[in-house]
Amino acid sequence: MRTISSVLGSLARVVSTSLMLLFAVTTLHAQDVKEGEKIFKSKCTSCHAIDRKVVGPALKGIPETKDEAWLIKWIKNSQALIASGDAEAVKIFEENNKLVMTSFTDLSDDQIKSVLAYITDASKEKPKDAVAAGAAKDDNASVFMILGLIAVVVLAVVVIVVLNRVIRTLENVIAKNQEAIAAQEEPEDSQRFVKFAKAFVKNKKLVGFTVLMLVALLAVGGWKTMWNVGVHEGYKPVQPIKFSHQIHAGVNKIECRYCHGGAFKSKNASIPSANVCMNCHNTITASEHYDGEISPEIAKIYRALDWDPETRTYGNNPKPIQWVRIHNLPDFAYFNHSQHVVVAGVECQTCHGPIQNMEEVYQYSPLTMKWCVDCHKKTDIKSDNKYYEDLIKAHERIKKGEKMTAAMIGGLECGKCHY
Ligand code: HEC
Ligand code: HEC
Ligand code: HEC
Ligand code: HEC
Ligand code: HEC
Ligand code: HEC
Repeated sequence: MRTISSVLGSLARVVSTSLMLLFAVTTLHAQDVKEGEKIFKSKCTSCHAIDRKVVGPALKGIPETKDEAWLIKWIKNSQALIASGDAEAVKIFEENNKLVMTSFTDLSDDQIKSVLAYITDASKEKPKDAVAAGAAKDDNASVFMILGLIAVVVLAVVVIVVLNRVIRTLENVIAKNQEAIAAQEEPEDSQRFVKFAKAFVKNKKLVGFTVLMLVALLAVGGWKTMWNVGVHEGYKPVQPIKFSHQIHAGVNKIECRYCHGGAFKSKNASIPSANVCMNCHNTITASEHYDGEISPEIAKIYRALDWDPETRTYGNNPKPIQWVRIHNLPDFAYFNHSQHVVVAGVECQTCHGPIQNMEEVYQYSPLTMKWCVDCHKKTDIKSDNKYYEDLIKAHERIKKGEKMTAAMIGGLECGKCHY
C-alpha cells in the first residue's frame, strides 16, 4: 500500500511541476508576443502590415524563412547591412525600389526577438480565427449579461417581498391613525376646494386677471418660437464620413488653414477635397485600431476617389464626398470670411466655437442678424492695414481737392462685385 501511495505522490509531483513549467513557458511566450505587439504597433505599422504591403513588404512568415541573427542586424540598421554588401539585404532593397527603412539601433536584441515572436504569432492568425475569437468574446459577454440579469431578477423579487411586508404594516398603522383623525376633524379636503372654487368664480376681477396672464404667457412662448424659426444653433447633421476635428485639428494640431485655406483669402472657407485627405491617408490607414484592416471610415475616402489600396492606383470612377453643409446664411446676406479672419483678425473659434474639441461639428452661433449686428457694435476694427491706409489717403486727397476715383477706394477688387 505504502509503495502505491508514494508512487502516486511522485507521479503527482512530476505532473504538477511539468504543468507549472509548461505554464511558465507559455506565459513567457505570451509576454514576448505582447511586448512585441506593442513595439510593432508603435514603430512598424506606419510602414508594415502582416499580410499586406504598405510602404515596406508584408511581414507574414518572414521570421520562419530568415535567419534570426540576420533579421536582428537588418532591423537594427538595414542600410549598414546593405552597405556591407550582404547579398540578401541588397536584393530586398532593390526589390522595394530602394526605399530606406528606418534604423532601430535603440531596440535591444531581446526586444527585436519579441517583435519577431509577435510577427510569427500574428502570421498564424487568420481573419476567420479573429472573427471566431471575437464571437467567443461576445459569448463570454452574453454569459455575463445573463448571469447579471438573473442576479437582478432575484434581487428584485427579494426587494418586492420585503417592501410588501413593510407596506402592509404601514397600511395597518395608517388605518388605525385615520380612524383616530376622522373622529377629531370635520370638513374634508374636497369640500374645502369646492368652497374656494366657488369664491374664485364669483370674483370677476380675479378671473379676468388670470385669463390675461395665461394669454400673455402663451404670446411670449409663441413669440420666442417664431423668432427661432430658421435659427439652427446646435445643428449637427450626420456626415458621410466620421471626420473628427478633435483628431485632426485637436490631437494632431493640423492648422485650419491646411484644409480651409479659402477662409484666409476669399469669401468662402471651402471644404477640402478628398485629394487633400490623401496627402496623409495614402499611408495612414489607422489599421492598428481595426486588427490590421483599413479603417472603414478611411476606406470611404478610397472608395470616393476610386483608389485601390492594394495596387495603390486610381481608377476612373471617382465620386465626390457629399458633406452635409452646417452653416448656411440665406442668399440675401453677404458674409466674407477673409474680411473677418484676416482684416479684422477674428479667431475662427469666436464664431465657430471650440472646433478643435468637436468629434462632430455643430453650429455654435445662432447666425441671426442680431448676432452679426451685436458683434459689429462692440468690436473694434484693426486699422493698421492697407484698406484703412487707403481710406485715410483718400480723405487727404479729398481735403486737398484732388481727383478721387472708385478704383482708389478698392473698386477694382474682384470680391467687391463678385461672390
Ligand atoms: C519608414 C518605413 C519603415 C519602417 C518604420 C519599418 N520598415 Fe521594415 N522595411 C521598410 C522597407 C521599405 C523595406 C523593404 C526594404 C528596403 O527597401 O529597405 C522593409 C523591410 C523589412 C524587412 C525585410 C523584409 C523581407 O522581405 O525580408 C523586415 C523584417 C522589416 N522591414 C521589419 C521591420 C520592423 C520589425 C519594423 C519596426 C521595428 C520596421 N520594419 C519598420 C520600411 C520600414
Ligand atoms: C484635415 C482637414 C481639416 C482641418 C485641419 C480642419 N477642418 Fe474643418 N472641416 C473639414 C471637413 C472635411 C469638413 C466637412 C465635414 C464636417 O462638417 O465635419 C469640415 C467642416 C468644418 C466646419 C463646418 C462647415 C459647414 O458645413 O458649415 C467648420 C466651421 C470648420 N470645419 C472649421 C474648422 C476650424 C475652425 C478648423 C481649425 C481649428 C478646422 N475646421 C480644421 C476638414 C478640416
Ligand atoms: C495632415 C494629415 C491628415 C490629413 C490631411 C487628413 N488626416 Fe485624417 N487622420 C490623420 C491622423 C494622424 C489620424 C489619426 C490616425 C490614427 O489614430 O491612427 C487621422 C484619422 C482619421 C480618421 C479616423 C480613422 C479611424 O477610424 O480611427 C478619419 C475617418 C479621417 N482621418 C478622415 C480624414 C478625411 C476625410 C480627411 C480629408 C478631409 C483627412 N482625414 C485628412 C491625418 C490626416
Ligand atoms: C465672424 C464670424 C466667423 C469667423 C471669424 C469665421 N467664420 Fe466660418 N462661417 C461664418 C458664417 C456666418 C458662415 C456661413 C456663411 C454662409 O452661409 O455664407 C461660416 C461658414 C463656414 C464654413 C462652411 C463653408 C463656407 O465656406 O461657408 C467653414 C468651413 C468655415 N466657416 C470655416 C471657418 C474657419 C476655418 C475659420 C477661421 C479661419 C472661420 N470659419 C472663421 C462665420 C465665421
Ligand atoms: C466676432 C464679431 C463679428 C461677427 C460675429 C460678425 N462680424 Fe462682420 N465684421 C466684424 C468686424 C470687426 C468687421 C470690420 C472688418 C474690417 O475692418 O474691415 C466686420 C466687417 C463686416 C462687413 C464689412 C463692413 C464694411 O463696411 O466693409 C460685413 C459686410 C460684415 N462684417 C458682415 C457680417 C455678417 C453678415 C455677419 C453675421 C453673419 C457678421 N459680419 C458677423 C466682426 C464681426
Ligand atoms: C466693378 C465690379 C467688378 C469688378 C471689380 C470685377 N468684376 Fe468681374 N464682372 C463684373 C460684372 C458685372 C460681370 C458680368 C458681366 C456680364 O455678364 O457681361 C463680370 C464678369 C466676370 C467674369 C465672367 C463670368 C462669366 O460667367 O462669364 C469673370 C471671369 C470675372 N468677372 C472675373 C473677375 C475678376 C478675376 C476680377 C478681379 C480682378 C473681377 N472680375 C472684378 C463686375 C466686376
